[in-house]
Amino acid sequence: MKILAIETSCDETAISVLECEGDQKNATFKILGNVLLSQIDIHREFGGVFPAVAKREHAKNLVPVLAASLEEAELLHEDRQVLPDTVRTEIGTLLTREPELAEALFAFLDETETPDIDAIAVTHGPGLEPALWVGVNLARALSMVWGKPLIGVNHVEGHIVSGIAVQDGNSFHITQPALPLLSLGIAGGHTDLVLMHEWLVYTIIGGTLDDSVGEAFDKVARMLGLPYPGGPEVSRLAEAARVEGRSNPFTLPRPMLRSGTHDFSFSGLKTAVLYLLKNNSDMDENMKKYVALEFEDAVADVLWAKTAAVLEETETKTLVVSGGVSANAHVRRVFKERLEKDYSHVSLHIPINSLATDNAIMIAMAGYYRALNKEFIEPSEMKANGNLSLA
Ligand code: KG4
Ligand code: ZN
Repeated sequence: MKILAIETSCDETAISVLECEGDQKNATFKILGNVLLSQIDIHREFGGVFPAVAKREHAKNLVPVLAASLEEAELLHEDRQVLPDTVRTEIGTLLTREPELAEALFAFLDETETPDIDAIAVTHGPGLEPALWVGVNLARALSMVWGKPLIGVNHVEGHIVSGIAVQDGNSFHITQPALPLLSLGIAGGHTDLVLMHEWLVYTIIGGTLDDSVGEAFDKVARMLGLPYPGGPEVSRLAEAARVEGRSNPFTLPRPMLRSGTHDFSFSGLKTAVLYLLKNNSDMDENMKKYVALEFEDAVADVLWAKTAAVLEETETKTLVVSGGVSANAHVRRVFKERLEKDYSHVSLHIPINSLATDNAIMIAMAGYYRALNKEFIEPSEMKANGNLSLA
C-alpha cells in the first residue's frame, strides 16, 4: 500500500511517499519520495518558532513540497483536466483561511492526474495548532479530490514508531518489539513518558509541567548567545568542554528528582542558568562551554533518573528514546551506559538522526498501522488538535 504522509506540526514542512507492506508484527517501508523543508532559517531571525510564522511558511511551501515528493516517487503525471466547479468550491471553502495554499493547490491539481497512492496520512496533533491545521486541511482537500482514504496520525506515535524502525538502505523494517515498551519522548513540542503495554495501546505516565526539554535547550542557547535551534549548539559547546576533561566549576540543580511523580519541570533549571550567567557577567566564551556542559549533564541526569524510576516499577522490556533531543550525543551515551549497567534486560532503541527530528517518514509508518486497523477518518470530520493525547 502506498501512503502519502504530511507533517506540519512544528517547523518542518515534510511530505513523504512510502510503499508499506506486511502486518502489525512485521512491516517493511520503502521510501519512494521524501521531501523536507525546514523553516529553521526563518525562525532563527526571531529566536524561536512563532505559530503564525510557521503556519504562513507551511501554507507557502506545502504544494511545492507535495509536487517534489510525488515527482521523486515517480508518481507525478501531467493531466490537463480542469477541476469541476463543485470540487473547486468545496476546496475553496475548506481553505478559506489559507487562500495562498488554495491558489497553489488549484494550479497543481489542474495540471496533474490523481497519483497512484492508496491513502493519505497526516499529523493531526499534538503540536502548534495553526501549523497543524494547514497540513490537515491540505490532507482533507487531497482526500476529497483524489478519493483516497484519510488517516490521522498522532505525532508522538510517529516518534515512537521511528525509534523501533531499522534502516536497510532505502527501506525501514519494523518488527513488533518485546512489550511493555517505555517511550521517552524528548522534543521541542513535547516531553513525555508513555508506556505501550499492548501494541499501539498507551498509558501516559508523565509529562512536563512547563517547558519541554527541547525548549529548555533552545532557551539556554539563547542566554548563551547561540542561534536557534539551540539543542545542537549547546551540545557542540558541551562536547568541546568534555574533550578538555577539566572538572566543572559550575553546578546546576537536577529538578524534580525527588518529586515522587514521573513528571518533569525544566523552568527552574532554566532560571538557574539565567542566575548563573547574571552572577558571572564577566564570564568569557571559554567558561560558557562549562555552563553548557553542566546544563547538558543536568538534563541527561534528570531524564535518566525519571526513566529509571519507571523501569524499576514496571516490567519494561523495550525502551525507546525519540524526538529531536534524542539526537543529543550525551543523552544517547548516558542512556546506553546506564541501561547496560543496571537494566541490561531492557533493549534500547533510539532513532537514527534523520528520523529523530520531525519528518514525514515516521508519519507514514505510524499511519500504515492505523490503515491496517482500518482507522480512517472522513475528511469533513478531521480536525487538528494541538493537545492530542495518545491515551
Ligand atoms: O522532535 P523535534 O524536531 O520537534 C518537535 O517535535 O518539537 O525536536 C526539536 C528540538 C529542538 O528544541 C532542538 O533544539 C532539539 O530538538 N534538538 C537537540 C539536538 N538536536 C535537536 N537538543 C539537544 N541536542 C541535540 N543534538
Ligand atoms: Zn517532534
